[in-house]
Amino acid sequence: MTVSRARASANVALAKYWGKRHEGLNLPFTGSISVSLSGLETEASVALRPRQSGDTVRMNGQPASPREAERIGRFLDLVRDQARAAVRAEVDLQSNFPVAAGLASSASTFAALALAATHAFGLSLEARELSVLARRGSGSAARSIHGGFVEWMRGEASDGHDSFASQIAPAEHWPLGIVVAVTDEGQKKVGSREGMAIAVQQSPFFPAWVETHAADMDAIRSGIAERDLTRVGEAAEHNCLKMHAASLAARPALIYWTPATVAVIHRVRELRADGLEAYFTIDAGPQVKILCRAPDRSRVAEEIARVPGVRRLLLSAPGPGAEVLPPL
Ligand code: DP6
Repeated sequence: MTVSRARASANVALAKYWGKRHEGLNLPFTGSISVSLSGLETEASVALRPRQSGDTVRMNGQPASPREAERIGRFLDLVRDQARAAVRAEVDLQSNFPVAAGLASSASTFAALALAATHAFGLSLEARELSVLARRGSGSAARSIHGGFVEWMRGEASDGHDSFASQIAPAEHWPLGIVVAVTDEGQKKVGSREGMAIAVQQSPFFPAWVETHAADMDAIRSGIAERDLTRVGEAAEHNCLKMHAASLAARPALIYWTPATVAVIHRVRELRADGLEAYFTIDAGPQVKILCRAPDRSRVAEEIARVPGVRRLLLSAPGPGAEVLPPL
């Protein structure tokens, strides 16, 4: 029996997805813009198992937890619906970045799985359809279908067919330096899914987050086109701080930062004041991603490594999109 394999990179949002207008379909309140992260990848393999009565899922060499297996099974049901098939599958997911580092792997996981599973079920989808499908697994996975710089359009339709991502510039357009500072190796306490639902319902600042988002998107989009680090970095930091401000103001409060997260924020600002241009962004967890010019990456990494509480650094750059891998 042949095994279909695919690989996809993680991504970091510069203008973030934070809040769903439809939970089941992962339809966002706003668009978002990200950059694909080279070297942080998930590989998915999918084999059809006609004699199996259920799907089996392994993640990083271990059987998936019942919760994870159910989420993957529901995603495979979407592929089975499109393929008009009922056959069960054996799925193996391997991420090369430490899950214990608390870096979200759902984007690269569902992008790789969308590609491997559609391939296994004999479907050949256009990038737009693949992005819509990956979005159903995890919103940010819609963006991991593409490499380089990517925009996920909010869309207007209630069925989500117009809420997909496309590439705005390939990785080669702008070789940025990206440093991921891991400050806490534990699993995150409130995941993105739950966190954004709390922010939507319980934060008085959520409407302001949505209303002011388009201006950041415009600055980041045009800054990418012109390779303008100052414009992209300032807008990305501002967008990140607004996402966290809205989350901090929710009830219950969502406080994703640890003392080390805050120490890295301050260090990045000091480096900038000293002439080393760098900007931070933070997702729903304590790790910090730092953007800088490619030639400055090792200097930035050296400086950030010295911040108390920083446990390890991952060096990255704009990376590739999802791709099918040859059978083993
Ligand atoms: C803060 O895509 O993980 O990283 O759609 O519920 O799976 P689900 O959420 P997810 O949320 C990512 C949130 C974020 C910002 C971003 O990546 O845009």
